[in-house]
Amino acid sequence: MRQMMVAGNWKMHGSVAFTADMVTTLATKVAVKEGVTLLVCPPAVYLSQAVAVATQSGIHIGAQNLASIAAPGAYTGEVAGFMLSDIGCQYVIVGHSERRALYGETNDVVAQKTKVALDSGLTPLICVGETLDQREAGQAEAVIAAQLDAVSAVIGVDGWEQSIVAYEPVWAIGTGRTASPEQAQEIHAFIRSRLAALDINMAASMKILYGGSVKPDNAALIFSQPDVDGGLIGGAALNADDFSRIYACAQPK
Ligand code: 13P
Repeated sequence: MRQMMVAGNWKMHGSVAFTADMVTTLATKVAVKEGVTLLVCPPAVYLSQAVAVATQSGIHIGAQNLASIAAPGAYTGEVAGFMLSDIGCQYVIVGHSERRALYGETNDVVAQKTKVALDSGLTPLICVGETLDQREAGQAEAVIAAQLDAVSAVIGVDGWEQSIVAYEPVWAIGTGRTASPEQAQEIHAFIRSRLAALDINMAASMKILYGGSVKPDNAALIFSQPDVDGGLIGGAALNADDFSRIYACAQPK
């Protein structure tokens, strides 16, 4: 049986008051289920606070980014993987399309960050996905294959065994235009087959989350697809009621 996960990516939203309110509300509102991890990823400055508020609640806390360099040093403004572990963070998003598009993160940088995350004891959520132009040019699978293969070259099967994949079609992020359940399933199956070429057991147990305009009214259908193991939620994760309703749609497969 595969585990599921519902993860909230707050992106650059929040405050001390919002973090306290959201994590407390989720802790009281959501009955965390066996086999369905509930993950919240606030901005870096609120991580310690979120970890403290989430104590004993069953809610896990993750970061949205980490430095590509592992050792301490003269890297002004960066946050290291070992620092995230140090404050009790367990997960980190890597290669989100916003970081790829706005901050120039290449497939190689994403692969390096994934390795640093693993070496720091963090579980990376590795984001992949195509733009609308790429999809319309029939390149979605080739783009995603290149994104996955760059990571494979650096972390190998052992690394993948400790990782999670998130398929986030760029055209579906924040647009209200979600992939259809069939489109999501098609790419999720492709991702699993690409990983199966490395190791069939690793691929069979890989959690592959879908992200892109997941809302309470479309989550159940998307999550019911055979290769969709939960969601990475943006906008709807900023509303405790919506996020807990999305979580309720996830059942272990
Ligand atoms: P939305 O749910 O707002 O489309 O964002 C998805 C996302 O990018 C999560 O990382």
